[in-house]
Amino acid sequence: MRNPFKFGTVVDGAFFTDREKELQTIGQLLESENHLVLISPRRFGKTSLVCKALLHINRPVVMINLQSVTTVTELAALLLKRIFKLYPFEKIKHAMAHFRFIPTFSVNPMTDGVDVAFQPGSDNNIVLEDVLMLIEKLGEKNKFVVVLDEFQEIIDLEKGLDKYLRSIMQLQHNVNYIFLGSQESMMEEIFEKKKSPFYHFGILMRLPKIPYDDFFRYLTERFAFIVPEQSEQIAKDILLFTQCHPYYTQQLAFQVWNILEQESQTVEVVNHAVDELTQLHDFDYERIWMAMNKTDRHILTILAQSATSPLDSKREMPTSTAFSALKRLSKQGYVIKNKKYEIDDPFFARWIFNRSL
Ligand SMILES: Nc1ncnc2c1ncn2[C@@H]1O[C@H](COP(=O)(O)OP(=O)(O)OP(=O)(O)O)[C@@H](O)[C@H]1O
Ligand SMILES: [Mg+2]
Repeated sequence: MRNPFKFGTVVDGAFFTDREKELQTIGQLLESENHLVLISPRRFGKTSLVCKALLHINRPVVMINLQSVTTVTELAALLLKRIFKLYPFEKIKHAMAHFRFIPTFSVNPMTDGVDVAFQPGSDNNIVLEDVLMLIEKLGEKNKFVVVLDEFQEIIDLEKGLDKYLRSIMQLQHNVNYIFLGSQESMMEEIFEKKKSPFYHFGILMRLPKIPYDDFFRYLTERFAFIVPEQSEQIAKDILLFTQCHPYYTQQLAFQVWNILEQESQTVEVVNHAVDELTQLHDFDYERIWMAMNKTDRHILTILAQSATSPLDSKREMPTSTAFSALKRLSKQGYVIKNKKYEIDDPFFARWIFNRSL
């Protein structure tokens, strides 16, 4: 049997578990005229969830990762390129009659896809507005879904773009927008701050980790194929280490499976896999660690030992210093706040812990 665990890319089918409630909520939302804002730390499963929700909806879907564009014109061109994947040019050219700047098209012989570009000097905002209005028009027959991943990048793309975008989007009726973001603080600034143009623009959903019972069942069922007697213990050990983080749980389970397949030894197998993976990343962790300042290292060491909270006043560091370090580390994605602050990557936590021994 092939390794039944998968990490790093979008998961679906047998690799996807739980999220029943979230799928239902997204389904209902897409039936309405509302938009969705989905926030979670990195690799919690936002993209997988949205892809699954959109799999059978029979509506035109366009998905853009804002990290992959550097200018507003590039964003407009990429949207247009995605539209051409859904509709043949001949069918929609009449709907583009309103375009104030004419894009150029070329067939990419490597991919057979169409490349789109706007002439330099085209007005950024107008170009984007024209493309969004094309989507609105095409959505008359069958409503569009536009997914904007890493939406917080919009703030750095161009000053005032958020205001402009919102002014166009609020007039559209034939599009559901789904905004995804993993920089929680920035997404909150955009959708939760009263003075932001996107204040309460969509329904906010925070994606949590996968609930313990579901993940436990998911792991046990699969390990039962290879070590029926120990599958429950292995699942328990894995989840104890990963604390149900979707990505790291799959990564560790993948490694454990590989070891079991090769050696079929089960004693301390999870610990063994943890050591292997921690060592595998040694070089990266070292580099990250060396680039950090002393305060951040100190905070991470406390979290890795997790005996007390770094905000504990008995520590030698002022609470305000600890707090700003935690905020900084959260922004960079090293620390996430669940009920308490924790290190996002459990292998990094183990690596830091090992150093402090
Ligand atoms: N529902 C799920 N069931 C099982 N594993 C999952 C699920 N969702 C996510 N994962 C695991 O987490 C990994 C990351 O998922 P995904 O890429 O969807 O997350 P993301 O939040 O979009 O990440 P990023 O922040 O990198 O964009 C997957 O490759 C998979 O290993
Ligand atoms: Mg993603």
